[in-house]
Amino acid sequence: MSIVLNKGGVAGLPTETVYGLAGNAYIKKSIEKIFKLKGRPKSNPLIVHYYNFEDAAKDIVMNQHFIKLYKNFCPGPITFILKKKINSKIHPLVCANLNTIAVRFPKHRFIRTILKKISFPLAMPSANKSSNVSPVIAKDVFEEFKNQIKLILDGGKSKIGIESTVIDLTSSPKILRPGIIEKKIIEKVLKLKLRDSSKTKIIRSPGMMKKHYSPGIPVKINQDKHDEKSAFIYLGNKYKNKRDFFSLSNNSNLREAASNLYKTFRIIKKKGYKKIQISKIPNLGCGVAINDRIKRASKF
Ligand code: TXA
Ligand code: MG
Repeated sequence: MSIVLNKGGVAGLPTETVYGLAGNAYIKKSIEKIFKLKGRPKSNPLIVHYYNFEDAAKDIVMNQHFIKLYKNFCPGPITFILKKKINSKIHPLVCANLNTIAVRFPKHRFIRTILKKISFPLAMPSANKSSNVSPVIAKDVFEEFKNQIKLILDGGKSKIGIESTVIDLTSSPKILRPGIIEKKIIEKVLKLKLRDSSKTKIIRSPGMMKKHYSPGIPVKINQDKHDEKSAFIYLGNKYKNKRDFFSLSNNSNLREAASNLYKTFRIIKKKGYKKIQISKIPNLGCGVAINDRIKRASKF
């Protein structure tokens, strides 16, 4: 594993959020491979993954907000946008030639073992073709890339099931991509109110582009009536064992629902459905992240 990554190869690796497509963040060859395999525009920067604070310190300009959030949530499902140090060895392509860098400290035991062992950080976007939904089991990664990648490490189902929260800390803190670590908890730690990202027009994070996280078939959100042919995604157990109905959580737990979202999209697609309907999901707690993803999926 470390030899493959060291020499500019790529590998599908598990994290607690979703599976990633990893490459050595110092080497142009690995980064080019990642962009090519994903079919990702080079203007969309990658997240750099580290074992710990000390490792990341080589590449980032520290700030107090980062230190506080790191202490509370890392390793864990949160990504920080920070200013990049001028003498950082990270290949410029990783950050799409920006002077900022996205850093994350993943929690999954397997990726931590690898990060501890190697002497370079890993650039790692989600291991899916651009605009598809992220993979949550090793087999999903194989289905995305087939024999185009030689190495996929099976670390079981990604517990969280959706991508990390992305927070911009380069000026006043702002969430660019909602996740399981939600706004309220971050506000409590930082003791301040976060800016509302929906109020800014410029796309700061290319992952905020509209069409993203698409299961490949049309998705309709805020639905209350089954059209008799679509797959119908909902919360609860009202339609238990009924054909065409897929519950994200039997007891309407939003965290569980988030963890089942992409898995359910893939199951539905495999079953051959042509359309997906999704009932209204409460926009609180983890529901904010779910609504963000399904809204984008509905732009198909
Ligand atoms: O949970 C995760 O974050 C997963 C796992 C594998 O770690 N990774 C992931 O990576 O979701 P990706 O590439 O699919 O999404 C990274 C997001 C994109 O929306 C990208 O535009 C944004 O982070 N991003 C990366 N660098 C940035 C930067 N310098 N400024 C603003 N946004 C950035
Ligand atoms: Mg992605």
